[in-house]
Amino acid sequence: MSSRKLYIETYGCQMNVVDSEVVVAILQQHNYQLTEEVTEADLVLINTCSIRDNAEQRVRSRLREFKRIKQQNRGVSVGVIGCMAERLKEKLLEEETVVDLVVGPDAYRELPALLQEVESGQKGINTLLSMEETYGDIRPVRMDRNHVTSFVAIMRGCNNFCAYCVVPGTRGRERSRDPETIIREATGLFNKGYREVTLLGQNVNSYRWVNGSRDLTFENILEQVAKIDPLLRVRFATSHPKDMSDELLRVMARFPNLCKAIHLPVQSGSSAVLERMKRKYTREHYMERISAMRKHLPGVSISTDIIAGFCGETEEEHQQTLSLMEWVGYDFAYMFKYSERPDTFAANKYKDDIPDEVKSRRLQEIIQLQNRLSLESKELDVGQTYEVLVEGTSKKSEEHLFGRTSQNKVVVFPKGTFKRGDYVDVTINSCTSATLIGTPVQS
Ligand code: SAH
Ligand code: SF4
Ligand code: F3S
Repeated sequence: MSSRKLYIETYGCQMNVVDSEVVVAILQQHNYQLTEEVTEADLVLINTCSIRDNAEQRVRSRLREFKRIKQQNRGVSVGVIGCMAERLKEKLLEEETVVDLVVGPDAYRELPALLQEVESGQKGINTLLSMEETYGDIRPVRMDRNHVTSFVAIMRGCNNFCAYCVVPGTRGRERSRDPETIIREATGLFNKGYREVTLLGQNVNSYRWVNGSRDLTFENILEQVAKIDPLLRVRFATSHPKDMSDELLRVMARFPNLCKAIHLPVQSGSSAVLERMKRKYTREHYMERISAMRKHLPGVSISTDIIAGFCGETEEEHQQTLSLMEWVGYDFAYMFKYSERPDTFAANKYKDDIPDEVKSRRLQEIIQLQNRLSLESKELDVGQTYEVLVEGTSKKSEEHLFGRTSQNKVVVFPKGTFKRGDYVDVTINSCTSATLIGTPVQS
């Protein structure tokens, strides 16, 4: 049988990036070859995100474009996979007539069988969630551009049920991946020349692998990955403030290749809002964890996620978010307007009562404050020297390379004879709120 061409587009979080790589691995075994040209594909897959309404709207507008392509190319099949497939199920087939195939995040092994159904003229759908599936045995086909940094999924699903969040519904229950397959994958990446892996899970702190006498925690698996090679940088995402342990901070302090950057989503600076969000920690607990991070890991950079305008958020509660941001001095933040998601606790129990213009104004205040904090964080680096892992050529200039510090800050510097994958000591001369600019140390 001649091979077929697969085009895949990925939206949403890093977990979706890895899932797309798993899907490509599965389909390559069944005679599909990747193409970057949507117009020459036999199969177009769109790996989708449901986290906010605008994420879903973006996918719907892409589907309208695929519809145009399909009208010109009768042979092409269109599949929706990922979180939107899981959330909407059959409804997607009804609402978007261009779609032939709907597959949820735990059903990717069924793709080849479902595609046979599609070929015989039926629609294919499987949105069963699993208690066990981790795709641990599948080696993802990497689609990154730099061949230096990659993601390794260590768990799937989420049991936290934050009131605003669709993920527990679209990804199912939390489960951890066999540690041997994690180590094998990370070692394989290092041997291929990769120099950084990010261990992924919705809440990596609750990684747990119990098998006979073995009982591994996230701290244990992180240490094992760190020991693969001192030249392999290791990051992880995401941590939950309620279970970020001192033991984790001690492990991070012991290994220089465990990057000194922690993403600790706060969502709100108000304990009352956090309670409504069902986040299971208070402002005070969060601040105590930040102090512990700074104590164990001097110079650690801290980033976060913030939601503006959650149900019932008062002006005073919003001010508490701003004051907490200022107190922490975040190096970086992802900032969002609250978007009500169907079937979540918040949608069922609370009113989405903050007017859109108030949400927008609060979000603007949060963004403006973060711009200042990001600039202040970068200004403190001017005059310092950092080890930078080179990821590629700078977007703005062929003569410059860019890479990151252990603290996850982007550094741009003159190319010289360096290349991607190199570690370069760079002295920082100046900065913007997003980038450090420097020169390599002469050795
Ligand atoms: N598991 C991770 C990531 C979840 S999704 C975590 O717990 O941090 C990434 C971010 O999207 C969340 O941290 C939150 O800030 C934001 N988010 C999730 N649901 C949202 C919603 N309904 N409206 C707006 N932002 C949301
Ligand atoms: Fe969503 Fe909360 Fe789980 Fe993160 S921890 S994925 S915000 S439910
Ligand atoms: Fe989106 Fe699903 Fe990730 S909802 S953020 S793609 S887990």
